Amino acid sequence: MQVKVNRVNLAYNIYGSGRPLVLLHAFPLNRAMWKPQVSDFSKKFHVITPDFRGFGDSQRTRQPYFMETLAEDIHALLKKLGITEFVLGGLSMGGYVAFAFYRHYPEMVQALILADTRAEADTEEGKKNRKALADQAIKEGPRAIAEMMTPKLLGKTTLAKKPRLVKQVKELISSNSVTGIANASLAMAFRADSNPLLPQITCPTLILVGDEDTLTPVALSENLHRNIKNSQLKIVPQAGHLSNMENPKAFNQAVKEFLKKM
Ligand code: MLT
Repeated sequence: MQVKVNRVNLAYNIYGSGRPLVLLHAFPLNRAMWKPQVSDFSKKFHVITPDFRGFGDSQRTRQPYFMETLAEDIHALLKKLGITEFVLGGLSMGGYVAFAFYRHYPEMVQALILADTRAEADTEEGKKNRKALADQAIKEGPRAIAEMMTPKLLGKTTLAKKPRLVKQVKELISSNSVTGIANASLAMAFRADSNPLLPQITCPTLILVGDEDTLTPVALSENLHRNIKNSQLKIVPQAGHLSNMENPKAFNQAVKEFLKKM
């Protein structure tokens, strides 16, 4: 499905009925990464999986933007769908957008699911790497980014034992646009430190992280857990940064248990 928000056509899928659950994808993937979750979660929830602008089937925009822009797109999409309260889940960049959303619209968020993400802003070196990645995407295209990033995104177990998933992730990244990848990389470099926000988060929060995640190692999730009062931390075994795809069984179980208590 597509809807025009903030002058951009945004693609999204909707499944099931019940309490709304919005799932925000990682960089440089798109809403297809939630495939292992939707059939399971849609038995009890009204699951909404949007593509951020520039990703998947959403429209590309040339102008640079911020994490807040992506949060505003999600807000406008939910407004069009008539959804005022919901559970917000985000993995990695999806988590950065979830922080930006919570900063502006905390009253809409009934619960948060923060997977393989971090509160910290980029270091100076990290910012340089974002610019280098954006330049590489423009010069060499999404396939080169897929080859470069997939070994970092996936855990050692997946890389050694799940060649089909490795291929699938590469294809997913390669299907995205150069503009989408380059702009999001720069937008992440500009994002704010969300540490000051953590003590202000009052809703029930589930923090998930793959035990083999090297991009956002477990210690960063422990920091989230320490500073978000009403939070619990679940480590997803034998999974890297894309914990929802690498160990969907453990990931889904943790989410369902968390949501059952609500
Ligand atoms: C992601 O998975 O969204 C990215 O790895 C986030 C990042 O590079 O900081």
